Amino acid sequence: MMPTPTAVTVRAAAKINLHLGVGAPRDDGFHPLTTVYQAVGLCDDVTAHPADDLSVDIAGADWVDADAIPTDSGNLAHRAGVLLGDHHGRELGARLVVEKSIPVAGGLAGGSADAAAALVALDRLHDLGTSDTDLLRIAARLGSDVPFALLGGTALGTGRGEVVEPVADVGTWWWVMVPSLEGLSTPAVYRHFDQLFPDASPTPPDAEALLGALRTGQPVSLARALRNDLQEPAIDLRPELGRLIEHGESEGALRGIVSGSGPTVVFLCESADHARDLAGALMRTGSPVVLVANGAVAGSHVVPAHV
Ligand code: C5P
Repeated sequence: MMPTPTAVTVRAAAKINLHLGVGAPRDDGFHPLTTVYQAVGLCDDVTAHPADDLSVDIAGADWVDADAIPTDSGNLAHRAGVLLGDHHGRELGARLVVEKSIPVAGGLAGGSADAAAALVALDRLHDLGTSDTDLLRIAARLGSDVPFALLGGTALGTGRGEVVEPVADVGTWWWVMVPSLEGLSTPAVYRHFDQLFPDASPTPPDAEALLGALRTGQPVSLARALRNDLQEPAIDLRPELGRLIEHGESEGALRGIVSGSGPTVVFLCESADHARDLAGALMRTGSPVVLVANGAVAGSHVVPAHV
């Protein structure tokens, strides 16, 4: 007799782009990137429960707008189940329960984290033994950031962001993260980049300075090297993000930067204590949600349920 499968919980982390170099759009509309991703300790958990059909339920932390997330085939975790099933030539049943702490449409790749976690959870629930190469390939079809959400750590991303390789990172980096209550559309920010920079080079700016700073382990060096080519378009669309960065830096952050396409702003700090102090200052001065996280942390991995 086959053993009854039990539920599997997989944890996946939010990402920050430490360097996001963007080139002119390719023929397929995507932008070539040279990016350095870092996974940080703000995580979603996806639990795959045995079920006949594939379905998605969402529960969110109180700063997460769970109602904004589709639960039908438009949900990226659901699509992950369909693509993984297609790969194995079968339909994969499961009730996927997504417990979200990563803000929605925040520039932190929360949807990508859920998709990556769903791939691993379904693979384990159904004992499919999908190879890492195949998981990464399926992840790339789900979205540019999904392969990194599988990998975690600190990694260089090229192509449209989907080609990932781990890089040396000797530091423990402390971040204060300030999400916005209203998300920002990634395609809209890329479109605005095209309007602001019609003469962008087809080759994105390289990440050498950032990679060098990571090898020093020094927060001050990393702060100097942070770069995000989507920051200017994001601030042009949301001027309050520029004011928030200035405010955080005036409160002592080493550097503030928009994460990915925004609107989350992340502040690099010297230490855990410094991050807690800055978070307190930002909360006292009106930011309703302020989170502290360190990086780099692991990619998508199985955890005991309810940890
Ligand atoms: O790959 P993903 O589905 O996450 O991308 C969402 C949107 O972001 C794309 O449809 C595209 O408009 C934009 N994008 C881009 N270039 C990239 C990644 C994303 O233009 N490298």
